[in-house]
Amino acid sequence: MQKKTYQDLLLKYHQEKGTVLTLLQDLQQEFGYIPEAAVFWLAAQTNIPASRFYGVTTYFKQFRLKPRGRHTVKICGGAACHVKGAVAISKRIRADLGLSAEDDTTADGLFTIESAGCAGVCNEAAVLSIDDQIYGGLTPDGAIKILTSRQGVG
Ligand code: FES
Repeated sequence: MQKKTYQDLLLKYHQEKGTVLTLLQDLQQEFGYIPEAAVFWLAAQTNIPASRFYGVTTYFKQFRLKPRGRHTVKICGGAACHVKGAVAISKRIRADLGLSAEDDTTADGLFTIESAGCAGVCNEAAVLSIDDQIYGGLTPDGAIKILTSRQGVG
């Protein structure tokens, strides 16, 4: 099944005279991240070293090398939210979810935690969003209550 998808992407790459960048964008669109198996399969098929694929993925922030969780939590890191305790909120969320400094997705695959730029609702700082829903006026305890309420939902 996945190999069929890889083959379809490779065919598109050849037909449209794609680049490593466009191939990686299509891969991420298909899987939500860049699977290691896909990189090595495509590297072998195209005679492009896997290191070149990984060079592109690490240069552009848009690429993810790990699967994303079911819900994406974005903690606003803008100036107003920073002043209103965004760092403490981030630390509390990461600690409560058991995330190490290297991990951004929970072991159960429920949440991916990211920092984000200003969400545009600075008057509600501190702010986070879960998927497309924004929550404001947060404290560390308030943020944990919201995440807890989302566990088992959706
Ligand atoms: S700084 Fe957080 S919403 Fe603007």
